[in-house]
Amino acid sequence: MPFPTQRLRRLRSTEPLRRLVQETHLAPSQFILPLFVCPGKGVRKEIGSMPGNAQLSVDELVREAAACKSLGLGGVILFGIPESKDEFASGAYDPNGITQRAVRAIKQEVSGLLVITDVCNCEYTSHGHCGFINNGEVDNDRTLEWLSKTAVSHAEAGADVVAPSDMMDGRVGAIRRALDSAGHINTPVLSYAAKYSSAFYGPFREAAESTPQFGDRKTYQMDPANRREAMREIALDLEEGADMIMVKPALPYLDVLRETRDAFDVPLGAYQVSGEFSMIMAAAQNGWLDLDRTILETLTCIRRSGADFILTYFAKRAAELLG
Ligand code: PBG
Repeated sequence: MPFPTQRLRRLRSTEPLRRLVQETHLAPSQFILPLFVCPGKGVRKEIGSMPGNAQLSVDELVREAAACKSLGLGGVILFGIPESKDEFASGAYDPNGITQRAVRAIKQEVSGLLVITDVCNCEYTSHGHCGFINNGEVDNDRTLEWLSKTAVSHAEAGADVVAPSDMMDGRVGAIRRALDSAGHINTPVLSYAAKYSSAFYGPFREAAESTPQFGDRKTYQMDPANRREAMREIALDLEEGADMIMVKPALPYLDVLRETRDAFDVPLGAYQVSGEFSMIMAAAQNGWLDLDRTILETLTCIRRSGADFILTYFAKRAAELLG
């Protein structure tokens, strides 16, 4: 029996009714804040392209982590900017490297906050690629050795979850085996399973000082045109032992998120990346968008598409808005 018997506007007519029939909910525990840690003391180096975000020295990072904890965030994910870079990404798996020191400090001073580490090499290599360069190409299998060592060193420092973002083939299996043989059988792997080669990472590369010095990442990150391939990437990562998976970026890839949610019954994250953040901030600073409404709408849409949790530079603001 259609109109006038059925009127969908009835259930939209008051705030209590709208609240009752709301299908998707946001909570601070679903948000993970990416943080950039750098050497030094008392350092808060603002990132020009990402207003409100900064490279933080370990002491400042601990304060930021404490704020995240009191807002009830799901956690933080750490990206390290080392003192110096080299061909072998030595800083990535140095037991005393910047990320390892950061994890130890947070674990010591902020109890109960989930600490995830990004496991990658691009911030640590002199050329800015995510792996070992052999004859001008990224050498997959050699890179797996670095990633395994890095993941183990993060777990040793106390990381709750390790998150490989490099997109080498076989990295999840290699990392799982390395963690297990080092005794870290309970450290979960959050795989950046469907990570696209995206222009939206632009501001991050300024933040993490990880722009490739030659070429691009298209030989390892996925082609934005491909959806079926994402399903293969995810299936393989799960077979290799990934505990959680991620789709990245988020908003331009909601179809991939939805298909992932329907096809795989595992915890699923989405990364609202730097370019998504900076676009919204820029428009808001111009008075063209209402920042707070846009934040909540984009996060709701990402959740509606199937994400259980979201890595987002808006994590703190979103938690405040919900609080
Ligand atoms: C490292 C890495 C990148 C991001 C997360 N981990 C950059 C890249 O792949 O170039 C992007 C995050 C963002 O844009 O917010 N490989």
